[in-house]
Amino acid sequence: MKTTNELVQMKRDKEKITMVTAYDYPSAKQSEQAGLDTLLVGDSLGMTVLGYDSTVKVTLDDMIHHAKAVRRGAPDTYVVVDMPFGSYHTGDDAGVRNVLDLYRSTGANAVKLEGIECLEIIRRSVSAGVPVCAHLGLTPQSVGVTGFKMQAATTEGAEQLIEDAKRAEAAGATMIVLEAIPADLAEKVSDMLDIPTIGIGAGVNTDGQVLVYHDLLQYGSDRQPKFVKTYSDFNTAGVSGLKSYAAEVKESVFPDETTTYKKRVFDQ
Ligand code: KIV
Repeated sequence: MKTTNELVQMKRDKEKITMVTAYDYPSAKQSEQAGLDTLLVGDSLGMTVLGYDSTVKVTLDDMIHHAKAVRRGAPDTYVVVDMPFGSYHTGDDAGVRNVLDLYRSTGANAVKLEGIECLEIIRRSVSAGVPVCAHLGLTPQSVGVTGFKMQAATTEGAEQLIEDAKRAEAAGATMIVLEAIPADLAEKVSDMLDIPTIGIGAGVNTDGQVLVYHDLLQYGSDRQPKFVKTYSDFNTAGVSGLKSYAAEVKESVFPDETTTYKKRVFDQ
């Protein structure tokens, strides 16, 4: 398993860091088998796995439940877990308590918080020993205010994001996710910081990339942000397999000889 320091070293060595979201045992297991450097138990699980229309309804208990399954599926991969909406917005003490709870109970390697209003929580969590990943640009927990669109697209917005990234690093963040921002800005921020940046919709010049598992594999996902590239089509493969199974049951083709216990227990 990579350590936080090794991820920083990868940046220095200009070796790209791979990250994908994982929400359960099988997606974690597959991602570890595929050799991903890091996994993110994103609160995007609210949409991809739980069928909500945003991340806002996801609870701390949901995150703990899913992150534990990911840890079991990928015992040897660096796991980052999201603090969900509302779990760090009601005061620094409550926020830090929730960070510690999430970190301790899941066995994750780092905890991610969106936005810059939580600087004090980042500072206190890091000094308590928890590696923290910041998240700037489009922060899905705030889409009610910002909308799902590119962020920091003006000069002032870009300058603000640069300031925020510096403050997050100074507060002790060990990594920063940059979401849906112009590629030249993401490159500038990546060059400026010592800690790795992980981009999603932020161009190729960040220190690593993250995509949502269900988007890149087309698994139950029907929305397609501009920045997603699909690498497989689980939707088609899954529906086709399920149709074949249902048809074979209807036609009494399944189960067959090979899938039936043959020992006779009744005389005929
Ligand atoms: O929750 C999530 O999946 C995320 C990624 C979009 C970075 O935060």
